[in-house]
Amino acid sequence: MTGGAGFIGANFIHYLLENHSGDQIVNFDALTYAGNLANLADVKNSAHYHFVEGNIADKDAVTKTIQQYQIDTIVNFAAESHVDRSIRHPDEFVRSNFVGVSTLLDAVKQFDVRKLVQISTDEVYGSSQSGSQFDESATLNPSSPYSATKAGADLLALSYFKTYGTPVCITRSANNYGPFQFPEKLIPLMVTNGMRDKQLPVYGDGKNVRDWLHVADNCRAIDAVLRKGQPGNVYNIAAHNYAENIQIVEKILKRLGLPESKIDYVTDRPANDLRYSIDDSKIRRELGWQPKIDFDEGISQTIDWYLHHEDWWRPLLQNVQNR
Ligand SMILES: NC(=O)c1ccc[n+]([C@@H]2O[C@H](COP(=O)([O-])OP(=O)(O)OC[C@H]3O[C@@H](n4cnc5c(N)ncnc54)[C@H](O)[C@@H]3O)[C@@H](O)[C@H]2O)c1
Repeated sequence: MTGGAGFIGANFIHYLLENHSGDQIVNFDALTYAGNLANLADVKNSAHYHFVEGNIADKDAVTKTIQQYQIDTIVNFAAESHVDRSIRHPDEFVRSNFVGVSTLLDAVKQFDVRKLVQISTDEVYGSSQSGSQFDESATLNPSSPYSATKAGADLLALSYFKTYGTPVCITRSANNYGPFQFPEKLIPLMVTNGMRDKQLPVYGDGKNVRDWLHVADNCRAIDAVLRKGQPGNVYNIAAHNYAENIQIVEKILKRLGLPESKIDYVTDRPANDLRYSIDDSKIRRELGWQPKIDFDEGISQTIDWYLHHEDWWRPLLQNVQNR
């Protein structure tokens, strides 16, 4: 797998080691600012886990790793993932999120890898203005350089399936939350600012709606796609826990015992999508997956995780850019 030192990838490695103890895992990760080996400190000595530092856009490094470890399946988590950064440095997103996927697709084709699961996002569908839910056949209408590079990679992957029969599946999930998320993202940013007595910056009027999926539920969904997904298929992964950003921030303030005056409404991000909403009936029907984690419980546990892991997030703050 790739990108395993990041948020979802690290959770997925823990999930695999707990649930599929016979699997051998190779974590191929470039260790960008978002890659953090501390996320995997507890598993680094496992006989089932191996780490390789490398970039998915580097053909030689990808080829060498596939050959050396006789890789038979790839789950690609590696990506630049922060929308704000994509507005400042779109070129880095093109290289990792599009060129990197192209490199992986070529390698899968060349070395007869059994399956590639490309981890994509609900953001490729763009904003659901009318409140309707997009299914997997909906038109892609990305708004940010981040989501545009993810959409481009999805289209390239599907073209490889159609043209060469390359065995690729795509997951498009809602916003993930849980432990090990880099503290530039909404929930850890707000908790860590609150704990440091800083203002909590909220974009626009805070009314943007996101669907919040616990990372553990996403890991189970990705695992189902990895083992049972049909090549050439896309699977949406939703939670149907819709909340305005301001509602999440209010929950955090309440948990930290802080007043509403800590909220700082800042100029909205350009092209900020109002609402994401996807229809995930396909994965529920075909692969028998459904989310298990209760939203209120999941959010409370997640806030508490950041409250109790200051030693984990403090060293990362030097790489959090101001909004
Ligand atoms: N976090 C979410 O809410 C969410 C929702 C839907 C989809 N996704 C997708 O899930 C995947 C993982 O997201 P995340 O939140 O864990 O991201 P993250 O930013 O926390 O981690 C990304 C990881 O990829 C590595 N990486 C980046 N570029 C690389 C490259 N060129 N070569 C090798 N490694 C590279 C980084 O070092 C890091 O370890 C991404 O593809 C993202 O688009 C995330």
